Amino acid sequence: MMEEEQDLAEGQRRHWQDTYAAHPGMYGGQPSAPAVHAASVFRAAGAQNVLELGAGHGRDALYFVREGFTVRATDFSATGLQQLRDAARAQQVAERITTAEHDVRDPLPLPDASVDAVFAHMLLCMALSTKEIHALVDEIRRVLRPGGVFVYTVRHTGDAHYSAGIAHGDDIYEHGGFAVHFFPRELVDALAHGWTLDEVHSFEEGDLPRRLWRVTQTLPRT
Ligand SMILES: C[S@@+](CC[C@H](N)C(=O)[O-])C[C@H]1O[C@@H](n2cnc3c(N)ncnc32)[C@H](O)[C@@H]1O
Repeated sequence: MMEEEQDLAEGQRRHWQDTYAAHPGMYGGQPSAPAVHAASVFRAAGAQNVLELGAGHGRDALYFVREGFTVRATDFSATGLQQLRDAARAQQVAERITTAEHDVRDPLPLPDASVDAVFAHMLLCMALSTKEIHALVDEIRRVLRPGGVFVYTVRHTGDAHYSAGIAHGDDIYEHGGFAVHFFPRELVDALAHGWTLDEVHSFEEGDLPRRLWRVTQTLPRT
C-alpha cells in the first residue's frame, strides 16, 4: 500500500471509531432496504449463512439473524462491533452471530467455499483504491461456495457529492471527514467478470440523498 493510501485508511478507521462512539446505533434499529431485498435473494438461493462486510453497529446483520440466517459480521471499527454484540445480546440472538474486527484490505479470514452469501451495504465505496476493491471481490469469490450470491451497494458517479470536497484520486472524494469512492458503471461491470451479473438497481438513501446502486451477482455452480 502506498504511504498516502495507508494514511487515508488509518484516518478513516479513526473517523469511523469516533463517529460510532459519538453516535451509538447511528443507523437505527431497522434494516436497510437493500438488506430486506438481499434476505429474499439469499433465501431463494438456499443460503443458510451470511457474511456481512462493513456491518457497522449491525442493523442489517441482526435483521439477517432474525430472518433465520447465521451471520458472521465484520468491520474495521471495534466500537461499531461492540454495539452490534450488545444489541445481539439484548435481542437474545447472540448465539447465531459472530463478529470479527477486520480491514477489507486484508485477506478474508475464512476458508475457501465456506460461505453461502455475502452482503456489503456501502462498504465497497469506502476509501478503497480500485485495485483494493478488485482484490476484495477476488477474496469474496474465494470464500463463496459455487452458486453463492453477493449483494453489495455503492454510491456512484451520479451522486451529488461526486467531485465535491477533497480529491484523493481514483474517484475518491472526502466530504465532512468521510472518504467515498464513487463508482463508475465500468467498475461494476469489471467486478462482475466471471460472475453472473443478475441485477444493477438504482436507489436513493437518506436526505442528501445518497445515490446508490444495489448490485446482485452470483458465482457459477461449476
Ligand atoms: C457507510 S457505513 C455502513 C455501515 C453498515 N453497512 C450499515 O449500512 O449500517 C460503512 C462501514 O464500513 C466500515 N469500513 C470502512 N472502511 C472499512 C475497511 N477498510 N474495512 C472494514 N470496514 C470498513 C466502517 O467502519 C462503517 O461501519
